[in-house]
Amino acid sequence: MRLNPSPRTKLTITINVKMRGSDIMSAVTNSFENVKAVILSCHKDSSSREKVNFYNSWAENYDQDVAVLDYRAPSLAAKSISSHFVGDRETAVVLDVACGTGLVAKQLKSYGFAHFVGIDGSEAMLELARESGFYQDLKQCLLGEDHLPVQCGLFDVVVIVGALSVGQVPVDVVRELCKCTKPGGYVCMTTRGNRDNVEYKAALECELKQMEEEGLWTCVEVAKVEDWERAVSEQEDGYISGAVYIYKNEEAQCMTM
Ligand SMILES: C[S@@+](CC[C@H](N)C(=O)[O-])C[C@H]1O[C@@H](n2cnc3c(N)ncnc32)[C@H](O)[C@@H]1O
Repeated sequence: MRLNPSPRTKLTITINVKMRGSDIMSAVTNSFENVKAVILSCHKDSSSREKVNFYNSWAENYDQDVAVLDYRAPSLAAKSISSHFVGDRETAVVLDVACGTGLVAKQLKSYGFAHFVGIDGSEAMLELARESGFYQDLKQCLLGEDHLPVQCGLFDVVVIVGALSVGQVPVDVVRELCKCTKPGGYVCMTTRGNRDNVEYKAALECELKQMEEEGLWTCVEVAKVEDWERAVSEQEDGYISGAVYIYKNEEAQCMTM
C-alpha cells in the first residue's frame, strides 16, 4: 500500500504501552539537579513511616532517578554475594529486605540466583517489584515496628541494600536478618559513608561486631567503596563513599526468635 498523505493530512498514531521508568529513561531522564531536589525534599522526614511514604511518592521515577545518581549498590552487593556463595544458586532462596522496585533481584538473577522473596514498607515500591516478575512472594512490613514476616532459619541469602541508613531501617533489625538466615547462609548489607550517616554507620558496625563476639556470625568481607554514588547534600560534592558487608551465619537461632 502506498501512503501518500497530502500536506494537510494529519496522521495520529496512538501507542498504548505500559513502560517502567527505567524503560523510558532516555526519553524522560530527570536532570541531576531535579533528582537532588527530590531526595533533599525527604531529608526532613524523620520517622521510618514518613520515609516509606516518601518512597510511595517516588516509586514511579525511582529506577530512572537512581540511575542518574550512578547508584551502584545493588550491583556491588550482588557481585559480592556471588563471589562468596558456594551453594547451588538455582535452588537457593534469597530474602531481599527493603527490596524496593527489584534492582537487587535483577542483579542477583544475572549471577544465576532464581528464587526471591521480597519485603518492603512501601506498597508502591512493592507494586513495581511485583511487576518485575522476579519475586515468588512479596510482603509489606515496616521494619523497626513490625517483625520480619518470614520463618526463622529459612533463607540461603538475606540481602538489604540502600535501606540501612539514618531515618530508614533501625540498626537492631540486623539481628532479625541473621535469625532468618540458614546456618551457613549469608547476610549482605550496605550502608552509606557520607556525613549525615556517620553516626548510623558507626552504630551499625558496632552491632555487627557485637553479634560476631556473641558467636552469631562471622565476618566474611567488608568492602569500602569510594565512588558509591553521586553526592546530593549541599555539604558534599562528587561521589560519597559506602560499604558492603558480608557475614556468614554460624548457628541455628530459631529457638530465640
Ligand atoms: C533506597 S531504596 C532501596 C531499594 C532497593 N533495595 C534498591 O537497592 O534499589 C530503600 C527502600 O527501603 C524501604 N524502606 C525504608 N525504610 C523502611 C522500613 N523502615 N521498613 C520497610 N521498608 C523500608 C523503602 O520503601 C525503599 O523501597
